[in-house]
Amino acid sequence: MGVFITFEGPEGSGKSTQARLLYERLQAIGYPVILTREPGGTRISELIRRIVVDLRHTEMAPTTETLLFSAARAQLVSELVRPYLNTGGIVLCDRYADSTFAYQGYGLGRDLDELQAITTVATGGLMPDLTLYLDLPVEDGLRRKQVAKERSEQSAPGTTFSTPPEWNRLDARDLAYHQRVAAGFAELIRQDPDRWRSFSADQPLAELAEQIAHEVAPLLKRVTRLGVYQ
Ligand code: TYD
Repeated sequence: MGVFITFEGPEGSGKSTQARLLYERLQAIGYPVILTREPGGTRISELIRRIVVDLRHTEMAPTTETLLFSAARAQLVSELVRPYLNTGGIVLCDRYADSTFAYQGYGLGRDLDELQAITTVATGGLMPDLTLYLDLPVEDGLRRKQVAKERSEQSAPGTTFSTPPEWNRLDARDLAYHQRVAAGFAELIRQDPDRWRSFSADQPLAELAEQIAHEVAPLLKRVTRLGVYQ
């Protein structure tokens, strides 16, 4: 069994950037590693993502939303995450089941025990070995995301950003919702402190990347590097 590491945080916390930096770092030193995201990461899960983030889908019922995130997760776990972990590799995932507890549970008020049952079905009980939380005041994160969105809208045709920021149906919810989500993450961390590491997202990229690499290092002992005989 390899190592399963997830990234969580509020909107605009930069977790996708940090996930990529960690991926590149591990790959450069010869670790077998893949980077994926939720919702998404497989052909089917990316199709589900399109449905769930679509700004036009204002009528989506909370139960539908919860089951769609869970369906996307079930496919990702079965098609990609478990098989890769079984080869002994490292899986980095940008969001995972904790987001369902924070967003649909604490944010939308869905029953947490019910979410636990749905999540266990979707994942077969697969939990991350480590979850990296990028902490940022909710207002700052939403502002960062808005600014990025406006910048991408203004850009000349043909200009590409490495990961075009999307302003999606879930970002568009009100501030109180995002504050409940952040409080939910704080509660999840409180309940399982051994699995979580929390970082301030309000610091230079490279510094944060160093802190993250430092926390990940002990887990790497379990993984055999490619081409390195131990
Ligand atoms: P993501 O692509 O991580 O967006 P962001 O860059 O804003 O962090 O996730 C898409 C949205 O889906 C995000 O608003 C969080 C939300 N989400 C849930 O509500 N529940 C879930 O289970 C997951 C995985 C994501």
